[in-house]
Amino acid sequence: MAVAVGLHGARLLVTGGAGFIGSNFVHWLTARHSDCQVVVLDALTYAGHRANLAGVPEGQLTFIHGDIRDPDAVARAMDGCDYVLNFAAESHVDRSIEEPGAFIQTDVYGVFVLCEEARRRRVRRFIQISTDEVYGEVLQGAASEAAPLMPRSPYAASKAGGDRLAFAYWATHGFPVVVTRCSNNYGPRQYPEKLIPLFVTNALDDQPLPVYGTGLNRRDWIHVDDHCAALETLLTTPGAEGETYNIGGGNELDVLQITRRILELLDKPATRVQHVEDRPGHDRRYALDCSKLRRATGWTPRVSFDEGLRKTVEWYRRNEAWWRPVKEGEFRAYYERMYGKRKVLGGTDA
Ligand code: NAD
Ligand code: DAU
Repeated sequence: MAVAVGLHGARLLVTGGAGFIGSNFVHWLTARHSDCQVVVLDALTYAGHRANLAGVPEGQLTFIHGDIRDPDAVARAMDGCDYVLNFAAESHVDRSIEEPGAFIQTDVYGVFVLCEEARRRRVRRFIQISTDEVYGEVLQGAASEAAPLMPRSPYAASKAGGDRLAFAYWATHGFPVVVTRCSNNYGPRQYPEKLIPLFVTNALDDQPLPVYGTGLNRRDWIHVDDHCAALETLLTTPGAEGETYNIGGGNELDVLQITRRILELLDKPATRVQHVEDRPGHDRRYALDCSKLRRATGWTPRVSFDEGLRKTVEWYRRNEAWWRPVKEGEFRAYYERMYGKRKVLGGTDA
């Protein structure tokens, strides 16, 4: 086997590579490194779609249908890999409130199985994709990597467990882990349970846009390409082992501001907005200080929110063949179950 130098000729394991960010990362990486090999290990839960990898050059991709909790599948997938990026997770806050068990299993135990195998194989670098939600709500200022972890949903708490477990392999064994905590991603191929694809596809169908509570909850939004660029850089940044990096887009917006922009882009009336019962424990604000990443790598987000949202809305408009079957599958029962029981508070104020 040829020896990889940096990313040249490298073999990367991308777990959860059939999901939203993972698949965007596989497209991003293979488009820029034609000499890299990517192995995707994905359990194809409701959120994973093999079709998300359509268009990735066949000669660069090996797809393994398997679970990160399964040591045999993990050993098979990691064979010969230089780098591991763990995207695989249960990722939706509302589902974690309804059924937290799978979150603990995948987002904590799954990380343990991956770390054990990666340590045994001495991979060059293991990136654990964590989230800004581990800080809990940040009511003022911006969280640096040194801020206390105060996760407030079962999703965020399970991600905090995986985040610190991966770090423990660095602290204990010197195993080369990098932890990243990114803010809210948006872009193509995002499962329509999340705010932006849900509201865009509902608006396209002239359905209500269900805003939780007041709609004043704030998030930092980042285009998925900017997240992918940061991860690509962190694979080879010298001295990043054992470090944690925030990754944010620098676009702080509340839900109503986003809703308004989506309706404007699709030329739909404000009457589509429907305020509904709030998410329990709904975090009011997330905000990240990303200066550490900028200093270490020179990375900076390149996609403005206006342009990124316009392109994303356009992607859903043109790719109904992608989202229509998704919304008619598992999603339909999920939506009826979760939104059917939410009290409608009324009001249109987008
Ligand atoms: P997603 O739900 O779209 O995709 C998750 C993928 O993981 C799916 O393909 C699914 O089939 C796979 N998967 C789930 N359980 C698995 C298991 N046990 N074994 C193997 N595969 C499994 O999620 P996403 O939005 O693409 O998020 C990817 C990662 O990034 C997650 O770790 C998430 O916590 C993190 N993250 C997401 C965001 C965001 O805004 N979406 C922001 C910061 C961090
Ligand atoms: O911050 C990073 C996190 O962002 C990731 O770690 C998670 O995987 C990802 O799901 C996302 O979590 P959020 O809870 O912030 O994303 P979501 O799209 O579910 O909600 C964004 C905001 O929109 C939040 O304030 C809740 C609100 N919302 C969401 C939905 C689905 C609504 O008002 N109505 C909705 O129907």
